[in-house]
Amino acid sequence: MQKKWTVTRIKAAKGERKLSCLTAYDYSMARLVDGSGIPLILVGDSLGMTMLGYSNTLPVTVEEMLHHCKAVARGVQGALVVADLPFLSYEASVEQAVLTAGRFIKEAGVDAVKIEGGAFRAPVVEALARNGIPTLGHIGLTPQTIQQTGGYKVQGRLEADAERLVQDAGALDRAGVFALVLECMPAALAERITGSVSVPTIGIGAGPSCDGQILVIHDMLGLYDALSPKFVKRYADLGQATSEALAAYRNEVETGAFPGAEHCY
Ligand code: KIV
Repeated sequence: MQKKWTVTRIKAAKGERKLSCLTAYDYSMARLVDGSGIPLILVGDSLGMTMLGYSNTLPVTVEEMLHHCKAVARGVQGALVVADLPFLSYEASVEQAVLTAGRFIKEAGVDAVKIEGGAFRAPVVEALARNGIPTLGHIGLTPQTIQQTGGYKVQGRLEADAERLVQDAGALDRAGVFALVLECMPAALAERITGSVSVPTIGIGAGPSCDGQILVIHDMLGLYDALSPKFVKRYADLGQATSEALAAYRNEVETGAFPGAEHCY
């Protein structure tokens, strides 16, 4: 059994080793990801698309997230499990954020939470830290604000935007995040941010200089192709493999080849 990953170990990895992180949304996948030695599993609100069929993350509710987080936590022994707080479950006030995050720690048994947003989220990060709840920050492309930003676009291409993201990263670092997701930004900007903060950066579409990488597991296993951003590398085509297995099963049932003698009592 791998030694349990804590936020202290994740922070200490900066400059020492790269962190490979993935999403997982259910018990059986969480067991596989954990068994492969991945240090950090995010129960991302991307489950709204990959598991629930919504067209974006905005409709995802706290109850839906709790349901999936509980299943993942039951399947994990070694990895740090992080729950994504869904849209409008932490934005209204610091009090709302503490109460929502607390439910994920208490009821779902996760180790930490993730929130989207820059320097203006510093008071939330500080309040969560004071109450014993570690926070993973998330800047750059923040899918919960696509209505405002106009879609899934690379962030920080203009110098003023890049400078704002550097300032956001610094403010979140000072507020006490244990790591910072950098989503969809030029590799050079992610390198600049990585060099300017004390905690590990975890990139998704942010180039090789980040301290770690994260992918949505359905993307890297070829199980979801409604969106296929340039930054995804497909490590397997389980969608195709599943379709082939289903066709073979259907054919064998229809032709009488299954069940065979070895499957009968
Ligand atoms: O919801 C999610 O899966 C995420 C990752 C892509 C970082 O936020």
